[in-house]
Amino acid sequence: MTKNLRAAFERDGYLILPGFVDGAACDALKGRMVEAFEPDEVATIFSTTEKTHAQDAYFLESGDKIRFFFEEEAFDREGRLRQAKEASINKVGHALHDLDPVFDGFSRAPALAELVKALGLQAALLLQSMYIFKQPRIGGEVICHQDATFLHTEPQSVVGLWFALEDATKENGCLWAEPGGHEGPLRSRFIRNDRGTEMIELDSTPLPTEGLAPLEVERGSLVVLHGLLPHWSAPNRSASSRHAYALHVIDGEAHYSRDNWLQRAEDMPLRGF
Ligand code: FE2
Repeated sequence: MTKNLRAAFERDGYLILPGFVDGAACDALKGRMVEAFEPDEVATIFSTTEKTHAQDAYFLESGDKIRFFFEEEAFDREGRLRQAKEASINKVGHALHDLDPVFDGFSRAPALAELVKALGLQAALLLQSMYIFKQPRIGGEVICHQDATFLHTEPQSVVGLWFALEDATKENGCLWAEPGGHEGPLRSRFIRNDRGTEMIELDSTPLPTEGLAPLEVERGSLVVLHGLLPHWSAPNRSASSRHAYALHVIDGEAHYSRDNWLQRAEDMPLRGF
């Protein structure tokens, strides 16, 4: 079974594992997010279609914190929220897995540790976590990208673990991915520099605009994504949210690039399972 999974992952660049977590675990994570966290005052608009947010220290310092990023369409022209705060958040990140006991437990479940090992990461480290809301009607697009653009190691080792906490459909903005697209080159890197951040092109091969498959999954499914796999998600114009929890792991044997945007304080080193 494990061998087949690994072969499928290496062929397609992704895996879909329906029912990897049960409904109660999905609800526990959703409940925790709603009960335990209150967005702080700094309203940062997180949008991958605009670069301005990237200059914001609030985002740059979030690698070892729990921070809140709002939907771009959550605000009116005067910059006021159009709806309640909890209906306006795009995502929360990026160290939920280290700072919150409920997220820690979910992220370090033995079954997940076993799966990651079976996929070839012998000394996996948990690098980043995000709770993604994909709000009804205003949930923003995430443009086509490769995760290794943002989370770079030598050699490439990042793997995305994307848990559907609610059903993900074409209507509410499910993931789309290019089967086998992880065989292609890394197109760009998003790095830190003296002024903030910048995107550097490494390879001019365009990211695909066709031939991507919709990864429609039921609540409780785990989608595993190779770090070089091109993927995106459409805006959510439907009436239902599409909550997901995404965790990114790297191989501790690989070199974590010093100019990656995501950096952690020395007293908060990365930990494994
Ligand atoms: Fe991604």
